[in-house]
Amino acid sequence: MPKGSILVVDDEAEIREGLSELLTSEHFQVTLAETGAAGLQKLEEQPFDLLLLDVSLPDRNGIDMLREVRQRDPNLAIILITAFGSIDMARAAFKSGAQDYITKPWNNDELIAQVSLAVEGRRLREENVQLKRALKQRYNFPNIVGKSEKMLAVLDLVAQVASSRSTVLVSGESGTGKELIAKAIHSASPRADKAFIPVNTGSIPVDLLESQLFGHVKGAFTSAVASKKGLFEVADQGTIFFDEISTVSPETQAKLLRVIQEREFMRLGGTETIRVDVRILAASNEDLRKLVREGRFREDLYHRLNVISIHLPPLRERKEDIPLLVDRFLGEFCRENSKPPCRFTDAAMKILIDYDWPGNIRELENAVERAVVLSTIENMGVDLLPESVRSREIVKGVHLQLSEFLPPLPGEIAGQGAAPPPALFEILEEVERRLIVDMLERTHWNQTEAAERFQVPLSTLNQKIKRLGIETRRRPAAPRDAAFGYGENGGAEFAAGK
Ligand SMILES: Nc1ncnc2c1ncn2[C@@H]1O[C@H](COP(=O)(O)OP(=O)(O)OP(=O)(O)O)[C@@H](O)[C@H]1O
Ligand SMILES: [Mg+2]
Repeated sequence: MPKGSILVVDDEAEIREGLSELLTSEHFQVTLAETGAAGLQKLEEQPFDLLLLDVSLPDRNGIDMLREVRQRDPNLAIILITAFGSIDMARAAFKSGAQDYITKPWNNDELIAQVSLAVEGRRLREENVQLKRALKQRYNFPNIVGKSEKMLAVLDLVAQVASSRSTVLVSGESGTGKELIAKAIHSASPRADKAFIPVNTGSIPVDLLESQLFGHVKGAFTSAVASKKGLFEVADQGTIFFDEISTVSPETQAKLLRVIQEREFMRLGGTETIRVDVRILAASNEDLRKLVREGRFREDLYHRLNVISIHLPPLRERKEDIPLLVDRFLGEFCRENSKPPCRFTDAAMKILIDYDWPGNIRELENAVERAVVLSTIENMGVDLLPESVRSREIVKGVHLQLSEFLPPLPGEIAGQGAAPPPALFEILEEVERRLIVDMLERTHWNQTEAAERFQVPLSTLNQKIKRLGIETRRRPAAPRDAAFGYGENGGAEFAAGK
């Protein structure tokens, strides 16, 4: 089976034939066109995964053609072919939606890598569209994005438990979507048109929590100048959601247990028993079982809450969801910032997929928002990703298009501030630093082994470490931003938007 279908539009026969031979030998299906008009005709006739387009065609300006093609098929991957020296032109093309460009003469291996990445990117984008449709049909949880088996299993469970009144405990690392799932349970339940009351138990001072939850009567305490309903009463007929339940004090835990068991309570200072019909949901990013074992959480309350448990897997265990999530967030933030629809380059997308996301979906959401806000072009490159994300991945030897690390031209990236673009030697130094740190990480900071693997004398490696100011002690794994020592006090900050 061919790896993908490619249309080559170039007026030079030699180029067309050279590309055809190379790409065919790599199992791509290749179609050739000599002019812009012929190329457009071919695009009408059959679908392609990738267009390799010469920027200077006899009958058409390549950029105009690019815009036209892009309008017809927003997912088509496009790589420009440009003569050496017309990098400016290629940059303009990049802004109009090409993924990448190659300069003549090209290096075969690099070209194949670029083409494969672009075709793969196209496949992902197409797959997203189809999956979004499929997901819509399966459930109606418009705010929840996910196609991974793990996420679909979560959604199955949400759909199953929604209609009952059972208490549900949602667990998962920070930023995995616990509150989102709690809201989805409420929205899919018969209580959907009643209140959903989230209570962030961690952020309410202990002595206030009880009066917030149960209300109080006038005079119950010094500042209680009037009677007040508690959140349990406000949530009557609806759902109450205890976020960060692990932070509740032992006394409040006892009272909560009673409400869950009896569905009744008294206001602080009151004598009247109030009955409510409330569904209780709770979330925790700490392992409650462990807290029970340590005597920090009541075992009986834990069992009451954990009637049904839904665990949200960390994002790194469901990487298939990343492109879909990115897509969703791009749409949201472009609209919010009144920007035209934008997307990430394939290289940037690959980094987003490969990164481990310790802060899970919230971290990803923030990274996308940051890129959208900082970018002035529709095709957002690696330079718009946060330093922590980029530096983690560059050292893994991910295929990167180094051209994206070039200092931007004036007006290309907004928000650069006053920082002058880095010089070439600073960029090279930074790359060198990252490679050395990565190797040291891999060899557990054994410099002799690192020098051997780099095939340089130990003294050379030593000198470089000193010159680049690399700290040779093993660094703590978190926080990520500091893991490699770049940034604040590390060397050159060569990408814009930091
Ligand atoms: N599957 C998803 N689809 C779309 N957006 C999501 C998804 N999961 C999480 N989000 C978004 O990610 C952000 C974090 O989600 P949420 O607040 O529900 O996480 P959390 O697990 O409660 O985090 P914390 O433990 O820090 O409170 C929210 O903006 C949420 O809308
Ligand atoms: Mg939360």
